[in-house]
Amino acid sequence: PGLSIEVLAETDSTNTRLIERGRQGLDAPCLLVAERQRAGRGRLGRPWWSQPGQALTFSLGLKLAPADWSGLSLAVGLALAEALGDRIGLKWPNDLWLRGDDRKLGGILIEVTPLAEPGLRPGERWVVIGAGLNVAPLPETPQDPDTFRTGYACLQEFEPALTAPQVLHRVAGPLLRAVLAFESEGLSTLHARYAARDVLAGRSVQAGALTGVACGLSADGSLQVRDALGALHALHSGEVSVRPC
Ligand code: BTN
Repeated sequence: PGLSIEVLAETDSTNTRLIERGRQGLDAPCLLVAERQRAGRGRLGRPWWSQPGQALTFSLGLKLAPADWSGLSLAVGLALAEALGDRIGLKWPNDLWLRGDDRKLGGILIEVTPLAEPGLRPGERWVVIGAGLNVAPLPETPQDPDTFRTGYACLQEFEPALTAPQVLHRVAGPLLRAVLAFESEGLSTLHARYAARDVLAGRSVQAGALTGVACGLSADGSLQVRDALGALHALHSGEVSVRPC
């Protein structure tokens, strides 16, 4: 079936709405956009704050059966970054950053839930891929401190006339194509393209108790970090921060 696109003036969270639809068996591919979210959610249980016109907030829901789910957020981030231009970098595992500037332009929240219906392909699940992309400067302070820990960037900094609907128009097709390609090919063809936008590569990073130098992705999409003794560690999830020089 084709992809339907729906725009809501307001909802709690586009991810929450689509997860609920999947639960109810309403699992045709759908892209849900909200002009305003009352309870937008970020990764690691954080809130995601945005205002109408300031950010594009949407989720794509579809049934997917990849051989390996790890790395889907990398494929999604890469598709969004490439659709939005050369200035966009990727901060593992799923942030979009302004290249060379360490400020956050957008984030991705992927949630996978089981399906209860006959005739599913092996491993098939309902996946909801949510993205929040900052389009315009922040209207005013104070801001939600959690959301803006890393510094705020927006697409209008280098494309002043850009609007949220234009951003949606640019990213929707590439995103869907990238997700379907990920289902059949995994990350295999994406490593070089990811490396070209990797904002952590060669930099000193911290993840929990581990500090070291980020040295790109391993085959499964985990982040490789070399510690001071030369040992290579693979991070599979969680949060990484750049250490000040
Ligand atoms: C993050 O950076 O922590 C991820 C942010 C993801 C926010 C988007 S906005 C649309 C979708 N609906 C949500 O509630 N969250 C995602």
